Amino acid sequence: MHTVEKKYTFGVLTLSDKGSRGEREDTSGAYIKEKLLQSGYDFRSYSVIPDNKQRIVESLIELIDKQQIALVITTGGTGVSPTDITPEAMTEVIEKEVPGMAEAMRAASLLKTSRAMLSRGKVGIRGESLIINLPGSLRAARENLEVVLPVIPHALEKIMGGTSDCGID
Ligand code: MTE
Repeated sequence: MHTVEKKYTFGVLTLSDKGSRGEREDTSGAYIKEKLLQSGYDFRSYSVIPDNKQRIVESLIELIDKQQIALVITTGGTGVSPTDITPEAMTEVIEKEVPGMAEAMRAASLLKTSRAMLSRGKVGIRGESLIINLPGSLRAARENLEVVLPVIPHALEKIMGGTSDCGID
C-alpha cells in the first residue's frame, strides 16, 4: 500500500457510451475511486460520459483548469474499436506527454495478456495536473493502476515544481 503524505486532489472520469446511458455499471470507476481514497488522495469529482471527443476534451479542461484537480484518472475508450477516442482527446488537452508511464503500464500488462498491446492510453500533463488513461475493464484498470500508483506522488510533486531529490525510493 502506497499512502501519499501530501493530500493531492483527484477526479475519476469514465468514458463509456453504455455507462453514460446507465446500461452498464461502472465498476472500474468505482474501483479507481476506492483505491485512490485508500491511498490517501482527496476525492473531488466522478463522472461517466460518452466516448465523444469534444465532451472528453471539455470535461478534462473543466476538471483541471476550473476545478484545479491535481490527478485525473480516466478509464475506457483507449482501445481500437470505432468509438474509442480517449487518446485523441488527450492529444488536444495535454501540454506534455509522459510516455514512460504509459509504456510501463503496457509492458507490465503484456506479461498478463497479449491484448494489452491494444490499449493506446496516454499519460500527460496539463498545467500542474497529471492525466492518466486506464483501459475500461475492471481487471485492466486494476492491473494498470497498480503499475503507476507508486510513482504518482513523485510525479505530482515534480509537476508542481518540487525540487526534491530524484534519488531511488
Ligand atoms: N491491460 C491489462 N493489464 N489487462 C487487460 O485485461 N485488456 C486489454 C487492454 N489492456 C487488458 C489490458 C484490452 S482487451 C483492450 S481492448 C484494451 O486494453 C483497451 O481497452 P479499452 O478500450 O476498454 O480502454
